[in-house]
Amino acid sequence: MTEWELPTARSVYIVAETDAGLVLRHWGDPGRRREFAPPARTPFEAPTDKVPLEFAAAGTRHAQFAELLVQGPDGVDGALLRLVPGSVAVADDGRDAELTALLRDAGAGVEVELHMRTSREHEVVERWARVRSTRAVGELCLTRAFGAAWNVPVGPGARVAELVGTWSREFTPVEVDLPAGQLSLGSRQGITSHLYSPVVALRARDSDDGCEAYGVALAWSGSWRMVVDAVPFRDVVRVGGGADDETAVITLAPGEEFETPHLLGAWSPGGPDGLADAWHEYQRGRLARSTGPEHRPIVYNSWYATGFDVRVEHQLALADVAADVGVEVFVVDDGWFTGRTSDRAGLGDWYADPSKFPEGLGPLVKGVLDRGMRFGLWAEPEAVNPDSDLFRAHPDWVYRAGDRPLTTMRNQYVLDLGRPEVEQWAATMLRRLLTEHPVSYLKWDMNRAVSDGGRPGDPRGREWSLQHTRAYHRLMTVLREEFPHVTVEACAGGGGRVDNAVLALSDVVWPSDETGPRDRLAVQHGFLSAYPPHVMSSWVTDEPDRLDTAPASLEFRFVVAMAGALGIGADLLAWDEATRARARELVALYRDIREVVHTGEVRRLGLPSDPVYAVQYTAADASRVIVLVTARPGAGRGDAPVRLPLTGLRDEARYRVHAGGGTVGCGVLAGHELTGAGVPVPFALAPDCDVVVLDRLP
Ligand code: GLA
Repeated sequence: MTEWELPTARSVYIVAETDAGLVLRHWGDPGRRREFAPPARTPFEAPTDKVPLEFAAAGTRHAQFAELLVQGPDGVDGALLRLVPGSVAVADDGRDAELTALLRDAGAGVEVELHMRTSREHEVVERWARVRSTRAVGELCLTRAFGAAWNVPVGPGARVAELVGTWSREFTPVEVDLPAGQLSLGSRQGITSHLYSPVVALRARDSDDGCEAYGVALAWSGSWRMVVDAVPFRDVVRVGGGADDETAVITLAPGEEFETPHLLGAWSPGGPDGLADAWHEYQRGRLARSTGPEHRPIVYNSWYATGFDVRVEHQLALADVAADVGVEVFVVDDGWFTGRTSDRAGLGDWYADPSKFPEGLGPLVKGVLDRGMRFGLWAEPEAVNPDSDLFRAHPDWVYRAGDRPLTTMRNQYVLDLGRPEVEQWAATMLRRLLTEHPVSYLKWDMNRAVSDGGRPGDPRGREWSLQHTRAYHRLMTVLREEFPHVTVEACAGGGGRVDNAVLALSDVVWPSDETGPRDRLAVQHGFLSAYPPHVMSSWVTDEPDRLDTAPASLEFRFVVAMAGALGIGADLLAWDEATRARARELVALYRDIREVVHTGEVRRLGLPSDPVYAVQYTAADASRVIVLVTARPGAGRGDAPVRLPLTGLRDEARYRVHAGGGTVGCGVLAGHELTGAGVPVPFALAPDCDVVVLDRLP
């Protein structure tokens, strides 16, 4: 049996050619190769059912979940895919390795090119497929075209961790015990959605936190589906995913091909924490164009302070205070463009509203730059209000499901980016916005689900979500390539469009509209299990929050927002001088710890619902450790001193420990004391929170 090995930083992914097709041989520790149980067959199973096939089509005499469902023009469904002899090749440049393999059914007229890519620099295996029609006449219909099957060797069954949510409650972790059966997650909304994140973590059903764990993620920002298939009594659990197969049908004309969304797989010997490290390392090292502050400045965003009431003098008064407390970019959110006095009008008309800006945006932009900050703008390029000049001029540019009545959500329709003229309009509009004035921060929002995708008269309208998502990715690429100095923040009514494709094309994401500090802590806790801190935009806002109404100190709200890319969204004109002075100190503290927060290894210590919760960030060389501590009322500065055991420090290393933002010394402690009895937390910053900084002594 010929085998091919693909190396990652610490593991290996091995596949082999067998009569049944391409199968997995091993995924994980190179020194502990696992043998899959020999395929004892019954008369009820085909050979392909008993081996860990890396890609299956229905029709490959495979009776289990198949990644490809193909219908031919002659009424024959399925394909008997066979590996083309000699087609498997590995290109290895010493850093990255990529395997390609060709599966073919000449009779059905379908060919599948499999791709698997690894790197010695990180732990992630990237997989996708290209499905091609080799027919001379007639169309192929793909009613499902997922990119890969992952044979996760944790079976029988698995414990499956997911991130679920709704608006304001994104990234809530849940864990499912799946002894057998299928678990299906997805979005039918045309965007990634708040409901489910396209990422799962799997481990053995009887495992503990330090066990081997595997993650699978889908890098796709439109409608999607992932299926975890725990076939009874199998030692692998199959995971597949791709564009949603319930709402899209892909048509291939002769010679045409479809490239599936890419899937990512990661292995860790260190349980869920180790898996989070593997994702972060990849997202930092491969997806981000930088992790420095140039693409994630400290933001002031005026949305919560002003809503749609955007006025030059008022914004400049806010900018005075923002600059004074140390903000690096001043972002004007919704409400600046023509007709936008509420969410009922204006979307689509991306010109400064003459009634609010009689001289255009120039004076405001100049005022912000004169105060030493960068200038940023909010836009929602995919949406249009019925009450807008754009819609009046192009009523045919929005999605329509035949002659069914159009539905508004937040009083808006969605532009059909699948039409080349609409994508072109959006590109021209964005180029104009970013060149007319020195805008160097763009918050790209999307505030509704696409409930009625489709394009009357165009049979390819069934592929609207794929077309829309590709156009969105192309437009984000235009921003990245033509405006490299512009920070792009991705948002969809909070965390409605967060996935690894978005992370590859933006600098930061807005995980949730909920900024109440305890709610936010919960959102961020889940977020950090699959996504990294350097992209996690987080703002300090005023009390009371609409949902999370219990009081918290200003310091607490800052500590929560310092856990990622810090921003401020409060009404700064309502802050008295003492509050501003305190904010100035806290922003300076954040600047000091930012690098370790954005590049360090993350450990979440406890749960946000615990009396005391913390996030520990350890620099790659462990020379510095930052611990952001938050406490429930009464659990912080009280009679009983709090000590928090840290993780991952060498026993003999010695650290000078400071709390309260450097104001209170806690002495010198050895690694074994910090991980044993724990670091003392004096709650020097405030009774309900602290920032503990540990610097290693030479
Ligand atoms: C969405 C975003 C908010 C804000 C509003 C503006 O809800 O998530 O941050 O930008 O839109 O309308």
